[in-house]
Amino acid sequence: DPHRQTVRDIVERLKDVPGALLPILHAVQDALGHVPADAVADIAQGLDLSRAEVHGVITYYPHFRSAPAGRRVLQICRAEACQAMGAEPLWAQACARLGLPDAGGTARDGAFTLESVYCLGLCATSPALRLDEHVHARLTPARLDALLAASEA
Ligand code: FES
Repeated sequence: DPHRQTVRDIVERLKDVPGALLPILHAVQDALGHVPADAVADIAQGLDLSRAEVHGVITYYPHFRSAPAGRRVLQICRAEACQAMGAEPLWAQACARLGLPDAGGTARDGAFTLESVYCLGLCATSPALRLDEHVHARLTPARLDALLAASEA
């Protein structure tokens, strides 16, 4: 399994860095797009941690995915500045439109992944989101709708 070898190489390279777990998780997700279940075992073993500890960190940080992302990734900022400007109704709107539960996730046979993020650096022009590589600020329900409609086309 080439993925497994990638994970082992990353663990080997970073395991002696102070606080190695986070840099390793970032490197694995950058390389594979998510942190697969079998990587958890290899990381735990390499760092002498339990699987539960590694799993706990993955689930604590919204940044880490345990499953591959959809073909398009929509990240809605839900940190303070965006919340104050209506991020929560936008989140609910996106969940409803994509048919996802309130936790977000991947919808439509892998077409879309909806994720929370906590600050995109656009607080002055909140609320903000990222759709794939592009950030969009000053969102409104109508603009979100238009973005979703365009990306479904
Ligand atoms: Fe949303 Fe900073 S809080 S961009």
